[in-house]
Amino acid sequence: MLPASIDDPVQLLVEDRARAAECGDPMQGFATLATVEGGQPAARVVTLRRLTATQLLVSANATSPKVRALGDNPRCELLVYWVTLQRQYRVRGTARFVPARAHADLYALSPWRSKTWDHVYEQIAQSTPADRSDFVPRFREVLATLQAHYAEPGQVPATPHAGYLEVHPDQIEVQALDLDERLHDRRRFVRTTDDDWSEQALLP
Ligand SMILES: Cc1cc2nc3c(=O)[nH]c(=O)nc-3n(C[C@H](O)[C@H](O)[C@H](O)COP(=O)(O)O)c2cc1C
Repeated sequence: MLPASIDDPVQLLVEDRARAAECGDPMQGFATLATVEGGQPAARVVTLRRLTATQLLVSANATSPKVRALGDNPRCELLVYWVTLQRQYRVRGTARFVPARAHADLYALSPWRSKTWDHVYEQIAQSTPADRSDFVPRFREVLATLQAHYAEPGQVPATPHAGYLEVHPDQIEVQALDLDERLHDRRRFVRTTDDDWSEQALLP
């Protein structure tokens, strides 16, 4: 069951993510991001890079189809299901691409290989059809070049297209499962002001 009174569903999401991590939930760091590409829904798993009461950040490269689609239509939904908590969140809102320098502290923590991909994407856009025999040596060459120039991955500068999607929720639905009686607790929160939400229970 959910708490009787929930003032801020984003805060609940943040707290639940921490609890899922403590429980060793294998999905605590991931979400499914759904976008609309023309009339076609598109969904893919992404990594939750930073999840706080004020920031929902997913790493993304501006060359990718998802970032291009969000440029045309910023509406999106982030879906998480934390099996260790038996809770689903549907976070609906808009997403905006920001370059890595907007979150330089976070980008500095990116490992070698994430940064290597960002460099590769400067040459070939993410999601381009490609043969492994072409991109594997290219990736290894770029990685070796970066490691020859920089002692630590934190020193590798961001490429122009590296960055993050900032998700700004305006509706959050949480469903706490009750596996015994199937009397699940489902609530929808709609943002009414910058720091206020209305709450509505829904039939599960
Ligand atoms: C566990 C997991 C984590 C992922 N994390 C990210 C991520 O943080 N950012 C990202 O752009 N793609 C991530 N991906 C890859 C995406 O699912 C997707 O294949 C890629 O972003 C291309 O999507 P697009 O062609 O719709 O832009 C991840 C995939 C998996 C399976």
